[in-house]
Amino acid sequence: MSKTSFTATLTMFAAAAALSACSPAPTPSDTASAPPAPTPPFSINEMMVMIVDQPGELLWDVEKAGHAPKTDEDWYNLENHAVSLASAATLIQLGGTGPADAGWVKQDTWRSTAQQLGTAALAARTAAHAKDLAALTTANGQIVAACEGCHKEFKPDIPTGKLFLHQRPGSN
Ligand code: HEC
Repeated sequence: MSKTSFTATLTMFAAAAALSACSPAPTPSDTASAPPAPTPPFSINEMMVMIVDQPGELLWDVEKAGHAPKTDEDWYNLENHAVSLASAATLIQLGGTGPADAGWVKQDTWRSTAQQLGTAALAARTAAHAKDLAALTTANGQIVAACEGCHKEFKPDIPTGKLFLHQRPGSN
């Protein structure tokens, strides 16, 4: 590109910027061709084991004898697990690499129970932030209800807590 046309391009950008400063910024709904939401690069089964079950268990553990949070760090870690779980609840609505994943996420019950999980995890986050064990216990109950609500419909056998063998990295 010659120096002149480069300068001309810059001038055009400046003019466009000045124009757009006068008109309202486009909202996402104005964008005709919004890119599709990304799909997580894991199966839903892997996400269940790694990022749903793990933070869930760590939150429930507070109800075990001798496991109630004591220090600021304990509460901070619980808040962290709740944020992880709430994020996972969003990710499992985007599909995954498993054979059934794309079909599952289209079901109403899938979306509603995943959203229920997200709401419950946010309640756990609020409770952990406030260092309120009673509220955290209530939120834990709501989390379990969401897990069970979805599993009753889509995964009726009892979870083993394990990845299916063929989904382990390095195995076929
Ligand atoms: C929106 C639906 C949904 C929600 C919510 C959900 N699960 Fe799952 N979960 C599934 C499905 C479906 C599978 C089976 C995936 C497969 O077979 O590929 C699964 C698999 C699992 C597995 C691994 C499979 C196994 O046999 O061990 C565990 C562990 C698990 N879920 C735990 C949980 C826990 C704990 C929660 C709540 C904190 C939860 N799930 C919430 C749908 C859900």
